[in-house]
Amino acid sequence: MAYNDQVVDQVQSLNDIVEIISSYIPLKRAGRNFKANCPFHSEKTPSFVVNPDKQIFHCFGCGVGGDVFSFLMKYEQMNFPEALRKLAERVHVVLPESKKFSTPERSQLERLYQLYTVAAEFYHTNLKHPKLGEAGRTYLEKRGFGTSETETFRLGFALSEWRTLYEHLSKKGFQDQELLRSGLIGRSAQGTTYDIFRNRVMFPIFSTQEKVIAFGGRAIADETPKYLNSPETPIFKKRKEMYCLHLAKRAIATSEEIRRMMIVEGYLDCIRLYANGFQNVVATLGTSLTNEHVRILKRYADEAIVLFDGDKAGEQASLRGLDIFLEEGMGVKVLCLPKGFDPDDFIRSKGAQAMTELLKQSQDVFDFKLQVLLSRYNKSDSLGLLKITSEFLDTFARIQTPVLVDRYLKKLAVTLGVEEGSLRSELNKLKVKQGGVAKLTLREAKPILVAKKTEQPPVEKLLLSLMIHYPSYIRMFLELFPNYAFLGDKTREIFNLFCQIIRESDETKLSASQLLNRIKEEGLKIFVSELLMNEWSSGDDREQAFQDAIRTLKMQERAGRLRTLRNQISQAEEAGDQDLVLKYMKTYQEMLVQPD
Ligand code: CTP
Ligand code: MN
Repeated sequence: MAYNDQVVDQVQSLNDIVEIISSYIPLKRAGRNFKANCPFHSEKTPSFVVNPDKQIFHCFGCGVGGDVFSFLMKYEQMNFPEALRKLAERVHVVLPESKKFSTPERSQLERLYQLYTVAAEFYHTNLKHPKLGEAGRTYLEKRGFGTSETETFRLGFALSEWRTLYEHLSKKGFQDQELLRSGLIGRSAQGTTYDIFRNRVMFPIFSTQEKVIAFGGRAIADETPKYLNSPETPIFKKRKEMYCLHLAKRAIATSEEIRRMMIVEGYLDCIRLYANGFQNVVATLGTSLTNEHVRILKRYADEAIVLFDGDKAGEQASLRGLDIFLEEGMGVKVLCLPKGFDPDDFIRSKGAQAMTELLKQSQDVFDFKLQVLLSRYNKSDSLGLLKITSEFLDTFARIQTPVLVDRYLKKLAVTLGVEEGSLRSELNKLKVKQGGVAKLTLREAKPILVAKKTEQPPVEKLLLSLMIHYPSYIRMFLELFPNYAFLGDKTREIFNLFCQIIRESDETKLSASQLLNRIKEEGLKIFVSELLMNEWSSGDDREQAFQDAIRTLKMQERAGRLRTLRNQISQAEEAGDQDLVLKYMKTYQEMLVQPD
């Protein structure tokens, strides 16, 4: 482990969870707790609870929970060391150096951020330079963009010379090695360095923390490629980033309307929409949408509208892309632009009002899919019908929300004129088949799938919950049931951890945060945070709960012993061993008449 528990405890104790979480989402007081609409799933009534005494959060809707580190990890998509570092910095705790985040590596990241910031300023200044920026400005003007867009999006211009950025960055103290690593500077076979981006309008790409992390550059003449993007670096992962998310998230947060995000393909589509009052818009960066994109979008919006260019809607790829939203449990609608238009062209020629009207026609994803498939295949020939149903069932198999599947199945059955029951049984077959396959085809584990944990016996949960709050119950329990084997995998693991902690130190050391800090696995943390949400109003109450749990366990044990005896009896009967049968029968009878 990178850090010792002491440091982790210290950082945690100095960062109040209420303060941290309320810096991201508005919390309302509710008794001793705080409540909010859960930022990790969409809901209308708040089931996300923050408990200041225990310094934990838990959502009763989607089941997420944990401590202040878990919150940051989930919300900011950080790993543990990153969350720890962020919180440590906040309270000025100096972390002992760990191998994983040693200073040289960190400063390399910092240098890269600096380099991109300096480059963005350079390009931006070029664009505004009366002479040097003329070609870039002329291009933007021709496309109908002006100074306001240049400022909002920090647009820039890469000059047509070979080494202007190189020289600028060198003067600022960046070494050749750093420049080459940044992906903005190249080196020829002869060893001469040169600017990768030349004679292009530059679109800086910002992280949600508003740092420049990449660029897209559009040719202003008929050069190829039309768009050039800076490469992936340690600070830029295409599958996670979206253009303009830093602006869109703010627009959505301050808007009274429902939290909805428009998703377009192009930089200029995005800028055009934003400039026309549709500020809740992001663009993917020349890649298709990933599960990670959607997971990030879900933090800021409850629903997505995917805008397709007029001629692209029928593409297979786009249909698959929509499944990602369903997999991640995010609402999604589709809007197809008229043939020949992308969002930029459309607004430019028809105006913002027409766009507003068009948006009203966004389709439910299911209807859209059906329409595309019906236009592609003939539902009245059996092969066509098969194609359509299998496409749909494949999508259904990915949906995590049973109510949605139900509604869609009904609709599909009616439209295609087939029995709903037969669709449903096909779907079930497919799900069984996909159990293994799904894991392979999905790029990574789905949190939703992970959340569908195997059941943990309620009585075991109750016991553990009592033990976390009142550790003296651990010894009492061990005296009553020295050999009890926990049936749930999570309950077992937590109980073992309790035993380990009280073996190592005295049981008074067992605090909620101590425990949470020892657990690194997110699923377990969530589980513990759920256990921590229990409350007992009085000592009698909790004693009653404990006694109830003990009684249940005793009954279960007894039932188990009786079951074993019955099996032994029938085995002895089969073996023809009458003596043994009688012996077991006697014990069985005795047990039955005993009260407990
Ligand atoms: N794109 C890319 N590389 C290319 C072409 C496109 O990365 N060679 C990405 C860019 O993000 C671009 C988006 O795909 O904005 C959409 O491309 P396209 O529809 O071809 O262009 P438009 O956005 O319509 O650009 P423009 O209006 O400037 O022609
Ligand atoms: Mn365009």
